[in-house]
Amino acid sequence: MWLNIHGHNVPELNQAITDQLGQVAHSTLLGMANIPAIELAEKLTTIAPKGLNKVFYSDSGATGVEIAIKMAFQYWHNQGIRDKRTFITMNQAYHGDTIGAVSVGAIPLYHEVFRPMLFPSHVIPYPYAYRHGGDEKAMEATLTALCHLLENRASEIAALIVEPIVQGASGIIVMPSGCLREMADLCRKHDVLFIADEVATGFGRTGAMFACDLEDVCPDLMVIGKGLTGGYSPVAATLATDDVYSAFYADYEEQKTFFHGHSFTGNPLGCAVALANLKLFEDRNLIAGVKTKASFVEHKLNAINDRPHVGEIRQKGLMIGIELVREKVTRQPYDWAERIGVRASLRARELGMLTRPLGNVMVFIPPLASTESELAAMTDILTESIISVTEGG
Ligand SMILES: Cc1ncc(COP(=O)(O)O)c(C=O)c1O
Repeated sequence: MWLNIHGHNVPELNQAITDQLGQVAHSTLLGMANIPAIELAEKLTTIAPKGLNKVFYSDSGATGVEIAIKMAFQYWHNQGIRDKRTFITMNQAYHGDTIGAVSVGAIPLYHEVFRPMLFPSHVIPYPYAYRHGGDEKAMEATLTALCHLLENRASEIAALIVEPIVQGASGIIVMPSGCLREMADLCRKHDVLFIADEVATGFGRTGAMFACDLEDVCPDLMVIGKGLTGGYSPVAATLATDDVYSAFYADYEEQKTFFHGHSFTGNPLGCAVALANLKLFEDRNLIAGVKTKASFVEHKLNAINDRPHVGEIRQKGLMIGIELVREKVTRQPYDWAERIGVRASLRARELGMLTRPLGNVMVFIPPLASTESELAAMTDILTESIISVTEGG
């Protein structure tokens, strides 16, 4: 599920877990600490966007998002500001499947049934250029809506949460360039916290360590998971700035503590493998490799750009979505009942590759360490499955 970095059965990652097993498999982080968790926190603060100097562990992307939301809420509360309690999210956003994460989610298919259980969030348009009149028009709609909301309601809004640069679960939709930067600037200007959910985009996936790095954005809170352990172990984290941290730092009697923890928070086995994962990133110069591989994949996929049912090929780094359409010129979507994405994915499986569609979008998110020949084989399967299902060949 989009989290594998170095492939399976990687000796260095296996060794890190084995070594840690010889020490201690788990000890709580509630009121205590452990060495791998400390070392990993230190490492994360050196690679994260500037200002994110504090790390709060959890065990999945969704719990990391819950923590970010609760932190943002209590950040204002602890300063005596009680009105800033709602959140801004983006249309078709996905932040995980727990109740807080679903409350800032906006994919009706997944989320609508739970609406009566959720807290309400403000939803602004996501700049989906292919369906919203091109980059410029789509971006303008997003920024105008955000501006309007902030100018009128910032005093009630705790934070905005966004999947930076690429919205994943909605269909791998890439933001027009500059949009994330402008959104972050607007939030700063109006005193609203900016939460970057890098669960899918983090750890090299988009061609930078974090998608925020692509536009020099420094969020107040950032959520990471998936690739953090190379896909080996359920570890996630919510990173915060000193400013956010300071709002919770007070004498015991003041009760500003962030009361949130999970049994497996900061699991030493997971933190040890995360450290080994990050070392492999450096030893293998993986991020630079992603850029080269991304160009290779782009070139390979160009071959199907003109096919009659390939609507749009979207790509950022090694995060790729191919939107299939019934009619190329009018961009008419396939009907859901045709299950075009499912059928193309089943065909890919027959040909030897596992992938999972998002509606009519074929998803291709290979391990970052894939070699060029592996990428060539995978893109061949991807294109063949698309052509055979959409053109009946
Ligand atoms: C952007 C984003 N946030 C959060 C999550 C939830 O992560 P998890 O499945 O680890 O709870 C996902 C999962 O796909 C995601 O893509």
